[in-house]
Amino acid sequence: MRDRGADVRCILTGNATNFVTPLAVQTLAGNKVFENTFSLTDEHEIGHITLARDCDLVVVAPATANLLAKMAHGLADDLASTALLVTDKPILVAPAMNFRMWGHAATSANMALLKSRGVHAVGPNSGMLAEGESGLGRMAEPAEILAAIETLLAAGPLKGVKALVTSGPTYEPIDPVRFIGNRSSGKQGHAIATALARLGADVTLISGPVKLADPANMRVIHVETAREMLGAALGCLPMDVAVCAAAVADWTVSNASKEKRKKDASGQAPLIELAANPDILATLSEKGSARPRLVVGFAAETEKVLEHARAKHQRKGCDWIVANDVSPQSGTFGGDFNSIHLITASGVEDWPRITKADVAERLAWKIADVLKGSP
Ligand code: C5P
Repeated sequence: MRDRGADVRCILTGNATNFVTPLAVQTLAGNKVFENTFSLTDEHEIGHITLARDCDLVVVAPATANLLAKMAHGLADDLASTALLVTDKPILVAPAMNFRMWGHAATSANMALLKSRGVHAVGPNSGMLAEGESGLGRMAEPAEILAAIETLLAAGPLKGVKALVTSGPTYEPIDPVRFIGNRSSGKQGHAIATALARLGADVTLISGPVKLADPANMRVIHVETAREMLGAALGCLPMDVAVCAAAVADWTVSNASKEKRKKDASGQAPLIELAANPDILATLSEKGSARPRLVVGFAAETEKVLEHARAKHQRKGCDWIVANDVSPQSGTFGGDFNSIHLITASGVEDWPRITKADVAERLAWKIADVLKGSP
C-alpha cells in the first residue's frame, strides 16, 4: 500500500503481537504502530481513536471470527474494536479462520449483519489453513486485498459508468434434486467485474452457482437458471456496458419434474427433453435504444477457436467477442490462466497467455478507452 502512495497506520491487537512484533509492522508501515495497551480514560489513547476517523478506509486483515463477532455486536474492549466502532469511514474485512468457524451459523449471521450495514469483505479463499487443514477460511492473498482496497478508493476512468457482468455456469433442473450444469468456475467473469469496479464502474454482477466469494464493492445477484439470469439482466437495464462471461446452458429441460424422478421398474432410463434457452448476449445486443453502448461476449471453444468465434460475433450482434480455448488440455476451465483472442469490428488481437486477473484488467482498460471516447 505504501508503494501505491498510501499513508498506512496500523493497530495491532494483543493476539497480533504474538505473530508479528510491533517494530516489524512499524518499519513496514513507516508510521508508529498502535497497540492494545490502553484505557479509555487515557487522553493519549483517546487521541488514537480519532485515528479511526482520520483516514479514508479501515482494513481489518486478518479478520478473525472473534473480531467479526465483536464488530457485529458492537463490543469495544480493546483499541482495534473500539476504533471499528467509532469510525465513520468504509470498513473492509479480510476474514481468516478455521473452515468450521467460517461455516458456523454464528459467523454467517455476523457476516450477513455486517454486510447489511455496508461493511465490505474480501475472501476468504479455499486453501491450506494455519492448523494444517484445508478449506474455506484462508485469508485473501495480499494482492486481492490490495485490489479490494483500490476498488473501494477508486475514482478511476470508469467513474459514472454502469457495467453489467454475467459470470459462472447456469444450472437447469431435471427435477428438484438433479440438474444439468457445466464446468465454468466463474473466475474470469468475477475477475472482470472486479477489474471494472477497480476502475470506478458501478458494477452489477449476475452470478450463476459458483464457489467464489462475492467480490467487494458491487451489487451481486445470484441466479441459478438461464431464464433467471436473463430476467436479472433485463431488470438491470439501462447499462453502459455488458460483459457476458457466463457459461449459460444452451438448453433447459422442458420436461423437468416437480418431484424427484424414480427409477422405472423395467429398468428403462427416463427421457430428458430439451428446449432452447434464451440467449442473453443476443438479447442484450438487440435491445434497440436500451442496448448497452458496448456489448462483449465470450466464445469458449474446444476446436477451431477463431473460426467459431468469428461466426459468433456475427450471429450474436455483439461488439466484441473474447475467444478462448477451453479444451481439456488448455487448463482454462477452473484454472487461473487464459489465452484469448479479442475480436472487434476492426480485427483480431491475439493476447499472450496471462492470468485471468490480467485478462480482466486489460479488458477493463480497453472498455474504459472505448467508453471514454464516446458520449
Ligand atoms: O453460443 P455460446 O454459448 O457459445 O456463446 C457464448 C457467449 O454467449 C457468452 O458470452 C455467453 O455468456 C453468451 N450466452 C448467453 N446466453 C446463452 C448462451 C450464451 O448470454 N443462452
